[in-house]
Amino acid sequence: MKPLFIVICLLLFGFFTINVSAGGSDVMLDSVDIQLDDRAAIKRGAKLFVNYCLNCHSANFMRYSRIAQDLDMSSDEVRNQLITTGAKVGESMNVAIAEEDAKRWFGTAVPDLSVIARARGVDWLYTYLRSFYRDDSRPWGVNNSVFKDVGMPHVLWELQGLQVPIMESYTDEQGNTSERIRGFKLIEKGMLNTSEYDAAMRDLVTFLAYLGEPSKLQRLALGKWVLLFLTGFLILVILLKKEYWRDIH
Ligand code: HEC
Repeated sequence: MKPLFIVICLLLFGFFTINVSAGGSDVMLDSVDIQLDDRAAIKRGAKLFVNYCLNCHSANFMRYSRIAQDLDMSSDEVRNQLITTGAKVGESMNVAIAEEDAKRWFGTAVPDLSVIARARGVDWLYTYLRSFYRDDSRPWGVNNSVFKDVGMPHVLWELQGLQVPIMESYTDEQGNTSERIRGFKLIEKGMLNTSEYDAAMRDLVTFLAYLGEPSKLQRLALGKWVLLFLTGFLILVILLKKEYWRDIH
């Protein structure tokens, strides 16, 4: 009986430790706790994505119909709430902006965001989206503390408002003193207060994590049934064993 118990324990252990890994970075990142099976958060994040990001960034690996299926939305709901580009429900999340135009406007290509959560990690994304700050020397008037001299404008400024960095000086291991960003101060209020904005970014990051691994949502749902089945099966096996050995003892 022992090996079976070990297998079940391992499965349970695996089940409870499923999470999204974070990418490494030398800048301090704020950590975010996302739940990949929180469909309501994914849906709110999807709405932010199509309204604020899809003008420039595509998510070519994702079809609207897939979102409809995963989030239990009807085709009409998807058409009304998520499609802003005139695409059909069966099509993928493309953008109208041509690559040459993007290069001319932003000085760089605009990356597809399908697997960005896997490339950068969710903590990095969460920090990035909350770390645009005013910098008049930059073409868009903003910079970013985790993406130096970023080519992307702060497209969410009307939600977040505008912030300036609070600097501190620090001494590294070699004894060199330099300046770094300790935090931010809001100088212009946005439509959301800080905790509302953080919550919105958590939703957006949840959506980006889902984009990178849509099948994880199904695996998470399926996993519960598999465990339930295995537990039921285990009980059956124990009963069967008892039945077989009853007359022999
Ligand atoms: C006006 C066009 C535009 C919009 C709208 C926009 N971005 Fe960007 N974004 C860019 C450009 C250009 C870059 C490349 C920056 C660079 O390489 O310097 C970029 C870079 C990024 C990166 C970093 C990619 C990497 O290389 O690691 C992320 C993440 C990102 N954008 C997320 C978003 C999200 C989320 C939204 C919606 C809230 C959004 N962007 C909206 C233009 C845009």
